[in-house]
Amino acid sequence: MKLLAFAASLRSGSLNQKLVALAAGLAREEGAQVDLADFREFAMPIYDGDEDAANGLPPGALDLKRRVEAADGLLIAAPEYNYSVSGALKNAIDWLSRARPMPWRGRSVYLLSASPSPMGGIRGLWQTRIPLEGCGALVFPDMFALPHAKEAFGEDGQLRDPGQRERLRRELAGFVRLAEAVAPLCATARGPGPAAPLRPQLMTALESETELQPPGHG
Ligand SMILES: Cc1cc2nc3c(=O)[nH]c(=O)nc-3n(C[C@H](O)[C@H](O)[C@H](O)COP(=O)(O)O)c2cc1C
Repeated sequence: MKLLAFAASLRSGSLNQKLVALAAGLAREEGAQVDLADFREFAMPIYDGDEDAANGLPPGALDLKRRVEAADGLLIAAPEYNYSVSGALKNAIDWLSRARPMPWRGRSVYLLSASPSPMGGIRGLWQTRIPLEGCGALVFPDMFALPHAKEAFGEDGQLRDPGQRERLRRELAGFVRLAEAVAPLCATARGPGPAAPLRPQLMTALESETELQPPGHG
């Protein structure tokens, strides 16, 4: 079980990067191999249809696409910006949605957010589900929003509050087990397995392209 983990924040000292690093460690304890990335590795311009038509995905988006494709699922910590999805993440989702097969399709996703506010970014996570699910990702029902995040981490990078620590551990264990179970059903790139006969139906149901989108690359 391979996971790609990143925080959708470019800021050094990002609270979401701290949270996703913690989540990556817990997922490793559950037996997952985790590729922990820095979102700055995937620098890309704002989506531009002319640029897309002329040159396809820019290098940063291609790098992210390759890292997503190498994984069965993702841990994404996304800041809430103005009650909604982080612009940098939405832009990355849009660029990758132009590739075929769509890289998000059939991949399990666990969403987290850290915010200094008392809400912890949960409103942004509800918005973040929408484009991911629209692109066929299997977003885990539970999401982890960390409020008062500036005070939430100890010197060791762990969560100070034992209740929050235990909830995150329990949810990640559940996510890793479900992602493991689902991966053989959805993973087109990872060879045959006992679930292979079910894949065509599932992958047809998780559309690669909708009538709303222009034809993609690949
Ligand atoms: C433009 C902007 C809008 C923001 N809007 C919200 C918001 O709606 N809700 C919230 O909880 N925090 C909001 N914040 C505060 C962020 O949660 C905070 O800056 C957080 O530390 C960003 O994540 P990071 O530390 O991973 O970079 C906003 C911050 C910025 C810069």
